[in-house]
Amino acid sequence: MAQATMYFPDDFLWGTATSSHQVEGNNENNDWWQWEQQEGTILEGGRSGRACNWWENAEADLDLAAEMGNNAHRLSLEWSRIEPEPSVFDDAALGRYREILQALHDRGMQPMVTLHHFSNPVWLVEKGDFSVEIVVDYFRRYAEHVVDSLGDLVAQWVTINEPMVYVVARYLEGAFPAPKQRGWGVVPRVLNHLLRCHVAAYEAIKARYPQAPAGVAKNLIVFQPAPPGRGSPLNAWWAARISSLFNDWWMEAMHTGRLRRPLGSGQLRGLQGSFDFVGINYYTRRYCRFGKLYESDWGEDAIVSDGNYGEVYPDGLFQVIKQSLRYGKPIYITENGVPDAADRLRPAFLLSHLREIWRAVSFNWPVMGYYHWSLIDNFEWERGWTQRFGLVELDPESQQRRWRPSGRLYAEICKSFSISSDMAERYAPELMPVLFPG
Ligand code: BGC
Repeated sequence: MAQATMYFPDDFLWGTATSSHQVEGNNENNDWWQWEQQEGTILEGGRSGRACNWWENAEADLDLAAEMGNNAHRLSLEWSRIEPEPSVFDDAALGRYREILQALHDRGMQPMVTLHHFSNPVWLVEKGDFSVEIVVDYFRRYAEHVVDSLGDLVAQWVTINEPMVYVVARYLEGAFPAPKQRGWGVVPRVLNHLLRCHVAAYEAIKARYPQAPAGVAKNLIVFQPAPPGRGSPLNAWWAARISSLFNDWWMEAMHTGRLRRPLGSGQLRGLQGSFDFVGINYYTRRYCRFGKLYESDWGEDAIVSDGNYGEVYPDGLFQVIKQSLRYGKPIYITENGVPDAADRLRPAFLLSHLREIWRAVSFNWPVMGYYHWSLIDNFEWERGWTQRFGLVELDPESQQRRWRPSGRLYAEICKSFSISSDMAERYAPELMPVLFPG
């Protein structure tokens, strides 16, 4: 077959995504660090420890990202480093973030910066974190300080990473560090405060850098009735309901400014239209049974990633992009990846998911960039070091790095702004009939 190629636009952003607590190491002053020291909290007793040693030497991995042909990177700031005690701001920590952001520019990558990615200063948790209203003032003050100190080096902003995942894992499931108050009773209040924190940060950014795009990274999941293929009507109704609460509620709130019951009510000042792009974190689809959030109940043909994390379902990426067109804003895929230590799935995962983006772009849908999760293996929250998402492999003990084949493949894609049949033949020949039929 003659070589065939899918081209992406010249200004497409090719990146990877990381978060502070997962890569920096020694974040001793946040709630995750404390949580990790307790028995039974993290799978196999994992601890973040030195993580990927970014606080000392992020530059080493940014070199790898540059070698990978990336022109963008998404990272997060650690609130507990920047404001180790209430109203005490650490200039040395901000200085280190300036170095890291400058290092990205020096390597030809534009930074997308997240203000909150799951971890909290210990002092904030002691005061009641997102269940108390004063968090909005604290978050505004933190955001203002950050934008004043770092804003000149930031291309795009994410205020909050995956608010719904955060609420479910922290306040309902108990998989994340336990807050003082938990359960359904606090959820509407926490969501109300999270939305107001988002608005406060959005306003802080816009007041100083009106042109800088800002938004949220929203985890979107394709929910379907269980069991696959023969769900009962109740399961179908339930799946639609879960999808509307988990996927749509937050986005609709930002879009319209109104909070829908049962997770809230009324209009919030400044909320309507408080996003310049839709940030999509997409990983997988889930099957729902009436009364349960979701379960690992996939069909027989499903390709399932490490640790039963989820099914590889590239069509879902196209679906969530299509659903997001209704907001009429540019779209970034702010995370997408797969736990796969042996790299048995990732090359095909990359090709098949990027092909869905290519399809979207071919319809002139405004998908502007892709940030793969993740550049390098890192501390995977309650799953510790048991799941490996890196294009580059890390041995956390020896700190040795090794390129996975998928990392080489991604480099070829980023450098050529394309996916070719030749790449597919070399990295995932089984996909040829799907990617390049005929
Ligand atoms: C989070 C990341 C996490 C990834 C893989 C996303 O929900 O934003 O921090 O590592 O999923 O589980």
